[in-house]
Amino acid sequence: MPDLGAAIGGRILFGGDYNPEQWPEETWHEDVRLMKDAGVNSVTLGVFSWAKLEPHPGAREFGWLDTLMDLMHDSGIGVVLATPTSSPPPWMGRLHPDTLPRAEDGRTEWWGGRQHFSHSSATYRRYAAAITEDLAARYGGHPALRMWHINNEYCTTDHGDEAAAAFRRWLREKYGTLEALNTAWGTAFWSQGYDSWDGILPARQPHYLKNPAQVLDFRRFTSDMLLECYVAERDIVRRHTPHLSVTTNFMPLWFGQDAWRWAEEEDVVSVDLYPDPRDPLGAQHGALVQDMTRSQARGPWMLMEQAAGPVNWRGVNHPKPRGLNRLWSLQAVARGADAVCYFQWRQSRQGAEKFHSGMISHAGEEGRTFQEVKRLGADLARIGEHVTGTAVRADVAILHDWHAWWAGAQDGRPSSEVDHPALLHAWHRALWESGLTTDFAHPEHDLSAYKCVALPRLYLLTDAAIGNLLGYVHGGGTLVCGFHTAVADEDDRVRPGGMDARLRELFGIRTLHEWWPLDAGERVECEGFHGTLWSEEIEAAGTADETIPYKGGELDGLPAVLRRGRAWYVSTLPEPEALRALLARITAEAGVRPVLDGLPEGVEAVRRGALLFLLNHRRDPVSVEVPGTHHDLLSGGTISDRITLGRYGTAVLRP
Ligand code: GAL
Repeated sequence: MPDLGAAIGGRILFGGDYNPEQWPEETWHEDVRLMKDAGVNSVTLGVFSWAKLEPHPGAREFGWLDTLMDLMHDSGIGVVLATPTSSPPPWMGRLHPDTLPRAEDGRTEWWGGRQHFSHSSATYRRYAAAITEDLAARYGGHPALRMWHINNEYCTTDHGDEAAAAFRRWLREKYGTLEALNTAWGTAFWSQGYDSWDGILPARQPHYLKNPAQVLDFRRFTSDMLLECYVAERDIVRRHTPHLSVTTNFMPLWFGQDAWRWAEEEDVVSVDLYPDPRDPLGAQHGALVQDMTRSQARGPWMLMEQAAGPVNWRGVNHPKPRGLNRLWSLQAVARGADAVCYFQWRQSRQGAEKFHSGMISHAGEEGRTFQEVKRLGADLARIGEHVTGTAVRADVAILHDWHAWWAGAQDGRPSSEVDHPALLHAWHRALWESGLTTDFAHPEHDLSAYKCVALPRLYLLTDAAIGNLLGYVHGGGTLVCGFHTAVADEDDRVRPGGMDARLRELFGIRTLHEWWPLDAGERVECEGFHGTLWSEEIEAAGTADETIPYKGGELDGLPAVLRRGRAWYVSTLPEPEALRALLARITAEAGVRPVLDGLPEGVEAVRRGALLFLLNHRRDPVSVEVPGTHHDLLSGGTISDRITLGRYGTAVLRP
């Protein structure tokens, strides 16, 4: 299978989405000059070019793209060629309304924006396959072509009639008989028993709460349908260019897509990442997404999009202060990225994203944004050969699963305050602030390489996952598990006792009497710390080795935290400092070491291959102890035992 190495040849891929169709041809030459100036070695062409390539049904306008492919090749810039299928031309919706998706209330999602396609539409798929086929046939042999980018941020849902038919087919395949479906969905509740497949709907808007098992299957179906669209286009380009790798860009922690499953179908995993420059935890959010993407890729991955300055889709869109773009880009490289790319090369003057930054902002060549991009290009060129292809190793993993998220995020549950991504962020933050490098894993993955596994909350766990966790702990691993976990089986059926019995035994829980969710802002006192969000009325079995009790209130004296051997259960969300301390203790006892001891606050250290990345997330200079003598690949200097990092400063140290 081709991988990223083939596309990049020892350089970090540096560049971005290039949308030359928005500009006159003179600008293309200006673009190339500036790209070379900035060390750009890759552009992604064609992401939103469908109407330009196929202005009328069946027409083909390749001339402009021929010119650009040649121009890029002549300039030594590689092309990641996108299939344009995320934004069908207006004629498609006009002539084929069946290609337009429907919201759950029946509303049509019209053209005039983007991503207005139904994943289940045979007409859409036929047109998408045809343009993909012709692009691959025409450019498969072009020397500028480095790899393929399929569609863009697959994210649509559809509740229309064609989706309904596809959903029924999908369900038939899964369940075989209506009886099995009725059992799995618990349709005895509220008189929902189906007597015909034709009666089943794609979770359209009902009067009151939806059937949660139906919603769960609809989410699985949606992810699978979008994946089918991806695979269909991937297989077409693969047939033409088996030697080139294929990706599609993920949105980070996107609810609609089982990215574990998707990653298996990609040669290279890529992600779009836009932390808020004003968010005090923006760097940690970046680290989380980077850790998750690396884990999905099981190796180097691509930062396919980021912003050189502000985005335009938050309420208030802050620019990146001087140095932040470089810092966050190098953070991605530290955490495994072999590509640092942007949306987009040149900031648009028209269209919905004209206030979204580009590598060249409206201020042009002299603008700070481009000047900083240029500096970054030079930095990446300096470290590329030392870093590409190398691995980041982690001794601790956080477990995450989309199915558990989907099932646990439904209406009609004990607390709508509980938010799956927020819990992942809280636990990841605790480890990040302790200077530990963290992978993510699926609960059914082989976990034996990890000294410690953290499970913030997985409301749904399959029997296979439970067996995997038991095997992991019995094999010597340390497991620390958050509240409201293993409540449901894979049909979202509550397990007897409100939590899987094998896991209760593992943690030393005799009875889980009640969940006691907390209101927003409410705190529950525990011995030595405060819990938030959630608490549980648990009776420990005599076998628990250690408990930390709740103090005061209804749960006074009952265990907030239990340990049995190497298995920990945490029935609340400790406040950030307390969670950090708890996880620091547990991981240390499991033998997990921070990347560097004594790191000052706000400084991140990551090892990638033989290199040590030091990243100062503060605006003031900071001095960091690094025992031994090192060569800083960025500054070219020699470092003995101590280094000073300036505002947002970074060092890449080689022993
Ligand atoms: C991404 C998308 C790009 C652009 C960018 C703006 O979601 O793939 O096309 O819209 O966001 O931040």
